Amino acid sequence: MRTPEHPGVHVRAPGKINLALRVGAREPSGYHPLATVFQAVSLSEDVVARPAEGLSLTVEGRGCDLVPVDGTNLALRAAELLRTVTGTTAGAALQVTKHVPVAGGMAGGSADAAAALLACDQLWGTGLDRRELVELGAELGADVPFALTGLTAVGAGHGDVLTSAMSRGTYHWVLALQDEGLSTPRVFAAFDDLLDDEPPAPEVDEGLLAALLAGDPHELARHLVNDLTDAAVDLMPALDDVLAASARAGALGTVLSGSGPTVAALALDAEHAASVAEVLRRAEVAAEVLVVTAPAPGARVLEPVRAP
Ligand code: C5P
Repeated sequence: MRTPEHPGVHVRAPGKINLALRVGAREPSGYHPLATVFQAVSLSEDVVARPAEGLSLTVEGRGCDLVPVDGTNLALRAAELLRTVTGTTAGAALQVTKHVPVAGGMAGGSADAAAALLACDQLWGTGLDRRELVELGAELGADVPFALTGLTAVGAGHGDVLTSAMSRGTYHWVLALQDEGLSTPRVFAAFDDLLDDEPPAPEVDEGLLAALLAGDPHELARHLVNDLTDAAVDLMPALDDVLAASARAGALGTVLSGSGPTVAALALDAEHAASVAEVLRRAEVAAEVLVVTAPAPGARVLEPVRAP
């Protein structure tokens, strides 16, 4: 039995970038079939769940002013969903510390939901296994399952049907972050508007998977692709400058992450990443430029929270 003095559970869940994002024609449900390759990065979200009456939430960190703290918040919805399916009446005070940009195409909100699911499951002793957590995650959003599993994975369906991908070595990415976010539904709607013909069924290029297996960043750079790029640029024309500056900064390749606006530039190693980041900072096209490594593990419980 957990006692009321339980100090809480601390979970960390990763943000992601999409190495490839191929998008098919809009379905009657409004969703689009995807073929994507996710890679979890070292930029992650922290959620601490402490025992409480009912459910409550505080949010701090990068972009926290932009995050809703009402019932629409994905971390709160995750805790609520876990209560509903398990029938527990236990409560939790959730404390989210954000590092992943808000509405940045890196699934920060999904990472919050994944972390909240795992933290509450541990706090409440509801004992769901990984597979059950992943199934619940898919109900909350297409990117939540990947935040639970992490590493590198191919996403089919709406991005929520995952197969782990073999990946060798560590990749060094330079991320160009923007102050303003992009709304994922709006980017998908712009994608629909820009289409002349029905797009083919989306497929992941075997060459990209071979590059990951070989641990070859030069080859990986040649296969980076995102079908939402034109739609994101249509909504945020300044993104063109970010993509051009990233290409000029000497990276091996660049790609828009998810529905943007974060742009990821691939470097050869840590030293190269630092130099690409410096050139990008001087280009003044991004609110912030960060260096991250990948792949990173999925949602995991950290050391026990110390009692105050
Ligand atoms: O699943 P999630 O809530 O993250 O998706 C946000 C929105 O992005 C959806 O409401 C939909 O408009 C769009 N979307 C889509 N096709 C996908 C995933 C998301 O059209 N495969």
